[in-house]
Amino acid sequence: MYDTIEIQRLAEKTNLLIDNLPGLSGIEELRDVLRFHEWRYYVDNNTLITDREYDILFNHLRKLEENNPGSITLDSPTQRVATALNPDFPAVKHIIPMLSLGNAYGPEDIRDFHSQIVKLTGQQEIEYTVEPKFDGGSVALVYENGILTRAATRGNGQQGEEMTPNAKTLPSVPLRADFKKHNIITAELRGEAVIRKDIFDKMNEKRAENGYSLFANPRNTASGGLRTKNPQETRNRGIEIFVFQLGHAVDSTSRNMLDDIPTHSGQLEALSFLGFKVPKEELRICKNIEDVIEYIAEWDEKRDSYAYEIDGMVIKVNNTKLQEKCGSTAHHPRWAVAYKFKAKQANTVLEDVEYQVGKIGSITPVAKVKPVHLAGVTVSSISMHNEEFIISKDLRIGDSIVIERAGDVIPYIVRSIPELRDGSQESLVFPKHCPIAPDKEVVLIKAEGEAAWRCTNCQCGAQDLMKMIFHISKNAMDIDGFGKSYVEKFYEYGWIKDIADIYDMDFDKIK
Ligand code: IVH
Repeated sequence: MYDTIEIQRLAEKTNLLIDNLPGLSGIEELRDVLRFHEWRYYVDNNTLITDREYDILFNHLRKLEENNPGSITLDSPTQRVATALNPDFPAVKHIIPMLSLGNAYGPEDIRDFHSQIVKLTGQQEIEYTVEPKFDGGSVALVYENGILTRAATRGNGQQGEEMTPNAKTLPSVPLRADFKKHNIITAELRGEAVIRKDIFDKMNEKRAENGYSLFANPRNTASGGLRTKNPQETRNRGIEIFVFQLGHAVDSTSRNMLDDIPTHSGQLEALSFLGFKVPKEELRICKNIEDVIEYIAEWDEKRDSYAYEIDGMVIKVNNTKLQEKCGSTAHHPRWAVAYKFKAKQANTVLEDVEYQVGKIGSITPVAKVKPVHLAGVTVSSISMHNEEFIISKDLRIGDSIVIERAGDVIPYIVRSIPELRDGSQESLVFPKHCPIAPDKEVVLIKAEGEAAWRCTNCQCGAQDLMKMIFHISKNAMDIDGFGKSYVEKFYEYGWIKDIADIYDMDFDKIK
């Protein structure tokens, strides 16, 4: 759809636009760039920019159009109402449209949101709820006379894909619930299908053992699992549904029953009593916006240790009467906002590679990248582990690359972006000689079954030690059963230090 030249042009244009948001005269170019990134994300499955960067551009376009309604075109990305629905599942109209959420990226955005709420409600003191923004696939569940009659994906917000038989396999979705207790005859609930991180890992381990391809991440696995043709497969994926909203509730005379439970927290509590999985422990009621900011900061810290993947926190006005007063745009409710955690991924450039000689002479390639801000730190060096890593990812000097911080700690190269190559990129050739003693022409060796190249006679003295350890280990106990080399085990057990002491070697230098 896009050729290399066009991709490069649009990628460069993207950076220019992010740095310098255009006026009305640049609106068509902005739309072109957004269309391109939509295609990369939804069709090509190969995103070039972060969600945040996309949001900045999209929100700017929406603002330009709001201020200049005459400029809106039918094919503007803001006018998209339909995403492709899967023809395998019947399309059903949601009782209440499933809106999206506006985004906030820092305390200032959250305070702006609060100022807006104060204006809309005319009230100074607002009670908020804060709960995780689950990163999965959205669903709508309809109960009639207490029976689950329909489950659908979010689809395009107006219409979803009906997948009731699949949802019925999920233990977290009650097949019947005593809505009558609240005089509710018809109810529509919204929630998110998610998979616990540990269950996802185990599932992938099993798939690897059985020779199946691995699932990419819990989000796609959950959202894809809702739409499998075989309901048993949905069940096998360990999907759970967290309900986060009671969207619609009426009695036998179609009277709105939502008013009877006048807070969001109260509605979730009632749903919890009825047997639904709701974020009960996670939800906090905050008396003011500074408490909201504080609670979000707590979650920012602990989100990696949380059992489910979340990409932010959702802030909602707790009182439903005030929610009504705030109303909604066509896109999102004005009474709620999603605080997005800092992007875990970023794009940068692989500028150089240094080869470091580590413990026991193993050579580790380390990428020197154009410094980039990622999840709170500036990243400029990233381990590339070994030669195999470089080959499998086809990494070249000068490549644009996507990086992330695994578990928000260790930076990691996810992939290169070959489409952005302009011919100046150079393939990487792993050195044949020890990088810290090149003039001595000390060769590197790779033992069978090992991923690392090692120096055979490095000036640091580690190799002498290695030979010694191999010699000793032949006569020593079998410590190889742990899947590590003797040398690493010796190192781990602290014996290297002992041996270095005995042979009067400089242990710190070896380290
Ligand atoms: S409330 C009308 N609460 O985020 C407001 N949404 O970007 C409806 N999501 O499609 C949304 N966790 O699938 C809400 N605790 C939560 C959520 C949540 C995840 C998803 C939801 C929605 C998307 C909006």
